[in-house]
Amino acid sequence: MSTTVSSRRIEPTDDQRIVTLKVNGVERRGIAEPRMLLVDFLRHELDLTGTHVGCEHGVCGACTVRMNGEVVRSCIMLAVQAEGAEIETVEGLATNGKLHPIQEAFREKHGLQCGFCTPGMLLAAQTLLEENPNPTEPEIREYLSGNICRCTGYVGIVAAVKHAAEQQSQA
Ligand code: FES
Ligand code: FES
Repeated sequence: MSTTVSSRRIEPTDDQRIVTLKVNGVERRGIAEPRMLLVDFLRHELDLTGTHVGCEHGVCGACTVRMNGEVVRSCIMLAVQAEGAEIETVEGLATNGKLHPIQEAFREKHGLQCGFCTPGMLLAAQTLLEENPNPTEPEIREYLSGNICRCTGYVGIVAAVKHAAEQQSQA
C-alpha cells in the first residue's frame, strides 16, 4: 500500500505546477516550475539526493533513474514530463535495511570507489540484468558505456555486475 508524501510548500504560484508521481513505490507530490529538471525535482523538492548531477547534458549518466521501468537521464527531462510516472531511484534499491544484491555485489567486488557514479551505475545494471540475466563482459561494458566513472575504475564495476548476475542465476 502506498502513502502520499506532500512537499513542504503546498501552494504553487501562477508559474508553478504541482507534479504528482510515484517514487520508489510511494506517491509523492511536489511543486515545479515548468523548466525544472527532473533531477532537481528529485533532489531539491523531494529530498532524494541519491541521484547525482554530473554533466547536466545527458552525457555522464550520473543522474540515471528508471521511469516506468526504463533507464532515463533525469538531467534532460523536465519534472512535469514525469507527471503520473513511476520513478525508481537508488534510494529504492535496498529493502528493509537490506542492500539490493547488485549493491552487495558492488561492495564485494570493489565497484564503489568514490561513489559518485554509483547510483546511476546501479540503476543501469539493474535494468541490464532484467533484460539480459547472463551478460558477457563485453555486453556489460557496452551497456554501461553511457555511464561515465570519473574514477575510471571500470574493472571492479564490471566484475560487480558479473557477480550480481551469477548470484541472481543461483538464487
Ligand atoms: S548529469 Fe545527467 S547525464 Fe550527466
Ligand atoms: S566511482 Fe568515482 S566516479 Fe565512479
